[in-house]
Amino acid sequence: MRAVTISRPGGPEVLVVAELPEPVPGPHEVVVDVAAAGLNRADVSQRQGSYPPPAGAPEWPGLEVSGTVVAAGEQVTQVAVGDHVVALLGGGGYADRVSVDEGLVLPLPKGVDLVLAAGLPEAVATVWSNVFLAAGLQAGETLLVHGGTSGVGSVAIQLAVARGATVYATAGSAEKVASCEELGATRGIDYREEDFVAVVQEATGGRGVDVVLDLVGGSYVGRDVEALAVGGRVMVIAAQGGREATLDVGLLMQKRARVWGTTLRARPLEERREIMASVREHVWPLVEQGAVRVILDSVYPLEFAATAHRRMEEGGHVGKILLAVR
Ligand SMILES: NC(=O)c1ccc[n+]([C@@H]2O[C@H](COP(=O)([O-])OP(=O)(O)OC[C@H]3O[C@@H](n4cnc5c(N)ncnc54)[C@H](OP(=O)(O)O)[C@@H]3O)[C@@H](O)[C@H]2O)c1
Repeated sequence: MRAVTISRPGGPEVLVVAELPEPVPGPHEVVVDVAAAGLNRADVSQRQGSYPPPAGAPEWPGLEVSGTVVAAGEQVTQVAVGDHVVALLGGGGYADRVSVDEGLVLPLPKGVDLVLAAGLPEAVATVWSNVFLAAGLQAGETLLVHGGTSGVGSVAIQLAVARGATVYATAGSAEKVASCEELGATRGIDYREEDFVAVVQEATGGRGVDVVLDLVGGSYVGRDVEALAVGGRVMVIAAQGGREATLDVGLLMQKRARVWGTTLRARPLEERREIMASVREHVWPLVEQGAVRVILDSVYPLEFAATAHRRMEEGGHVGKILLAVR
């Protein structure tokens, strides 16, 4: 089968289509014939050599796919050959086929195009596990999302609004701010022009927000705490802005606030299974109602993975970039 491999750490040009052996499913695994694979920022980091795949995962990139089940291990009970599905992966999605634990596979949501659905698993599982399972965002609360037009951010805005929260979102241009508001944010914030702490404090009458989804890290973490309400929670899921943060621990204590970091890919299989089961129960109905959609930026053929990576690194995209495999 074809797979897009990383020939050496480097720029997009190191992505090379190679012929690799067909995957063989383990007892609890299925093989998915891939219709499309979603791009994630982590794939760029992996290509650059700074985010190696976890033990046991394929070495080629790809954290999410949609497709059709073509083989199943002997102990698989929930998924059958012929099912249209999406899957959350530890890697290996940029390929014709991939094997995956059946607990990380969900049925294609009714009414969603098979190719488009490839953009769901990673962003939805990330938002659900952080904003809702960990931070416990409730209807009537407020959420600040950084990078509101990213794959992750575009899902966070829609999901939080669908569940009755008020959302503020940062983005890097006036056009992206407008996109955040079209997705349902009450107020988009151009982080290049405005101070998000000041905007959020003014918009909430000085109360602050209940939850922050931070995919920047670095200097943002201390400012996230400044933007929080009493009892607020900051979920840090990336370090694009730096790995070191300074924050006012006095303020943290006064606000009885929590700062929490997670990564999805490195979690034990059982935790990822639980997250996907919870996504199926709580998020899939909203996807089927159209309240949470994949915001599609662009689709490239698998062979054009390098072009797709360039698109992501240039940062002009809004929503998800996909690789069509069929
Ligand atoms: N920990 C986890 O489990 C986990 C899981 C999934 C994703 N992530 C992380 O989440 C982030 C988003 O992933 P993705 O695949 O959706 O990537 P993506 O679409 O490429 O998004 C990157 C986003 O970062 C935003 N950004 C960069 N600097 C910013 C700043 N100073 N202030 C506000 N926003 C800023 C960009 O906003 P502009 O374009 O508007 O500048 C862009 O929206 C990545 O960093 C990824 O590593 C973490």
